[in-house]
Amino acid sequence: MPFSIALAGKGGTGKTTVAGLLIKYLVKMNKTPILAVDADSNVNLNEVLGLKVADTLGNAREEMKKGVVPGGMTKDVFISMKLQQAIVEDDGFDLIVMGQPEGSGCYCAANTLLINFLDKLVGNYPYIVMDNEAGMEHISRLTTNNVDILLAGFRRP
Ligand SMILES: Nc1ncnc2c1ncn2[C@@H]1O[C@H](COP(=O)(O)OP(=O)(O)OP(=O)(O)O)[C@@H](O)[C@H]1O
Ligand SMILES: [Mg+2]
Repeated sequence: MPFSIALAGKGGTGKTTVAGLLIKYLVKMNKTPILAVDADSNVNLNEVLGLKVADTLGNAREEMKKGVVPGGMTKDVFISMKLQQAIVEDDGFDLIVMGQPEGSGCYCAANTLLINFLDKLVGNYPYIVMDNEAGMEHISRLTTNNVDILLAGFRRP
C-alpha cells in the first residue's frame, strides 16, 4: 500500500498550494514515483504543478456510460486505455485528474471498473498526494480511504 496524504477543508485555505509544494518536496527527497490526484471537480492542481490536463476519469466514466466504446473493444480494455490517457507523466510524479462527479443515472458498472483499475494503479506508487475540493465531506465521510495523513484547512471564526 502506498503512503497517502490528503488535503481537505475550507475553501481557499491553501489546499492546492500545499499539495503542489508537498509533491515538489517529495520529488526533491527522491520519494518517487508519486501519484498526484486532483480530486477537485474544479480542476487546478495541474496549474500549480505547471502541467496541462489530458483527460479526466470523469470523462472516461461518462463515455463508458454512454456506450461510446469503439467496436471490437471490451469495456475493460476501453477503461484501461482511457485511464492511461488520463495520466500525465512528469519528473518523479504522475498526475491523474478525477474531473466532474457523476450525473444522474446508474454509474455502478463504470465505477466498479474504475475502482478496480485505480486500485491496481496506486500499487505502482510509494506515495500519493490527493487534493480535494472544499468542504468537510471528505473528513466526515472519509471518502478518501486509507489516508495516512489528512491535512485540513480551517479558517478562524
Ligand atoms: N500560505 C499562503 N499565504 C498567502 N497566500 C496563500 C498561501 N497559500 C495559498 N495562498 C493563496 O491563496 C489562494 C488560495 O489557495 P489555494 O488555491 O491553494 O486554496 P484551496 O484551499 O486549494 O482553494 P479551493 O478551496 O478553491 O480549492 C491562492 O491565490 C494562493 O496563491
Ligand atoms: Mg484547491
